Amino acid sequence: MACCLGSALLLLLLLLGSASSAGQNHCLDAAEACTADARCQWLRTEYVTQCLARSASGDCDLARCHRALRRFFSRGPPALTHALLFCQCTGTECAERRRQTFVPACAFVGSNPSPPSCLEILEACELSPVCRPRLLAFQASCAPAPDVCLRGQGPRCLRAYAGLMGTAVTPNYVDNASARVAPWCDCGVSGNRREECESFQGLFTRNRCLDGAMQAFDSGWPSILQEQLDSHQDPGHSLLQISSADQSLEGSSLLAILSVLALKPLL
Ligand SMILES: *[C@@H]1O[C@H](CO)[C@@H](O)[C@H](O)[C@H]1NC(C)=O
Repeated sequence: MACCLGSALLLLLLLLGSASSAGQNHCLDAAEACTADARCQWLRTEYVTQCLARSASGDCDLARCHRALRRFFSRGPPALTHALLFCQCTGTECAERRRQTFVPACAFVGSNPSPPSCLEILEACELSPVCRPRLLAFQASCAPAPDVCLRGQGPRCLRAYAGLMGTAVTPNYVDNASARVAPWCDCGVSGNRREECESFQGLFTRNRCLDGAMQAFDSGWPSILQEQLDSHQDPGHSLLQISSADQSLEGSSLLAILSVLALKPLL
């Protein structure tokens, strides 16, 4: 019984995910799975609140936003936090949701009107006891050899990438038309250190190991949400949580729930 209710819930999540767009929206699924988990939901509310808050000068409070993001990734359930960060998209609506998930207006861009040099970002990171070990771990874990991950290296690479969220190097998806990621910086004014600058930027923009690990993450996708649903002892309860707590659910969601229930005898 529990197994079948679980599957019906998974189907429900998938249906809700596709209700607002053609095709699957894994990033919407991930957001809903986080909403259904009290810890994930609480930590997400925390970082969104901190990252949207304005200081007296009108800027966002980057230090608080980053601290809350680090807390989200260090204390949240990894299956859910990683699903939000690495959900794969086929359409722009999904990719736009993914790009906006970690409040890039503060966490990624900060108060900069235009991107700083990547060398500045690198230097800020090297001076930071929080950032430096995380960047070293990322370099070690996502280093292509020669241009792919070593066998089994992918998950470690993704953990190290997630570890950079909320540091001086915080990366994000650069647009809603690709899965390209980078920190908020460029190498336009790096002068005679251009090569050093581009090699740092290339850790994100030309890293086959990282790209491959992100794509591979998606192959385990349905089981991630399934495990999360199974971990709820009372499936009926989690259904209530999902449907009452996520304000992003469209008006069509009740209809979707009803149609799932109506379809159930056919499944
Ligand atoms: C995708 O990004 C472009 C450029 O920033 C923007 O104009 C467009 O509205 C975005 N698409 C979606 C679905 O948000």
